[in-house]
Formats: sequence, C-alpha cells, structure tokens
Amino acid sequence: MLDSDLFYIDTVKKYPDDHMQKIAVAKQEYDKNIRPELKAKLDNMDDYDTVIVAFPNWWTTMPMAMFTFFESYDFFGKIICPIVTHGGSGFSNSLRDISLLCPGAEIREGLAINGDDVQKCDKVLEKWAKKVHLL
Ligand SMILES: Cc1cc2nc3c(=O)[nH]c(=O)nc-3n(C[C@H](O)[C@H](O)[C@H](O)COP(=O)(O)O)c2cc1C
Repeated sequence: MLDSDLFYIDTVKKYPDDHMQKIAVAKQEYDKNIRPELKAKLDNMDDYDTVIVAFPNWWTTMPMAMFTFFESYDFFGKIICPIVTHGGSGFSNSLRDISLLCPGAEIREGLAINGDDVQKCDKVLEKWAKKVHLL
C-alpha cells in the first residue's frame, strides 16, 4: 500500500512454537526486563524520517525485542506510527513505553488490530494510513 522499505525485527534466539512455552519465555523476559539480541541492525536509520512499527501485544506491552529495537537507534525528530496486534487489550502500555524509549519523537495515533482480524484488515489499514497522513 505504501512505497516504503520493510525491515523485519527478528531475534537471534528462536521462541518456542508451543504457545504455553512461548508465553512463559516471554513472561520471564518481561519480568527481568531483558533485551533480546536482534538478528540485524539497520545501518541507515538516519535516512528515514517516518517509521511504521508493527508488533504484537505481549504481557501488556511490546515484546522485549521491541525495547531492544527502539534502544538501538535515535528516534529524536522522527515520526513513529505504531500498529499493534492484540488478543483484546489493544496497545496496553506499549504507547507509553515507546514514548519513554524515544524522546523527541512524534508518535502518531496508533492502530490496534485484534489478532483474529489480521487477515481481513486491509480496509482498516488503509483508512488509518490516510488518517495519520501516510497516504
Ligand atoms: C507471550 C504472549 C503474550 C500475550 N499477551 C497479551 C496481552 O497482554 N494482551 C493481549 O491483548 N494479547 C496478548 N497476547 C495475544 C497476542 O497479542 C496476539 O495473539 C497477537 O497479537 C496475534 O498475533 P500473532 O498471530 O503474531 O500471535 C499475547 C500473546 C503471546 C504469545
């Protein structure tokens, strides 16, 4: 929909496929405020003035890997457009956490998509993209 570059935020350590095990690993990372190592780092973040970030809601905020991501760059003066997928809680604390991690960034109104609606969210995405002036 947008003429943008795509960067997949992925961790070095693979999460368990089993849902309950994944939940437990993620909870431990959250409780211990861990910063999971990411597979790659962008070396040209300075070239971007607008960053759309999409992540799932894990334990009332973003996966801790997103904390690693936000702490890896200087977002001062950049526009951040957040999208969360969730199981009922929307953004929870993630918008607050992005603000804390990205001083001086403009955080545009986010879009919350229920995990069950991900396959059918094209229209909602387009409407949101227009609303936050990405389209
Ligand atoms: C470890 C973990 C923790 C989660 N915690 C929450 C939560 O606190 N609130 C919520 O609404 N959904 C929570 N969910 C549900 C996910 O947000 C939802 O399944 C996801 O956005 C759908 O994307 P997916 O198919 O990539 O998992 C959690 C899911 C996982 C795996």
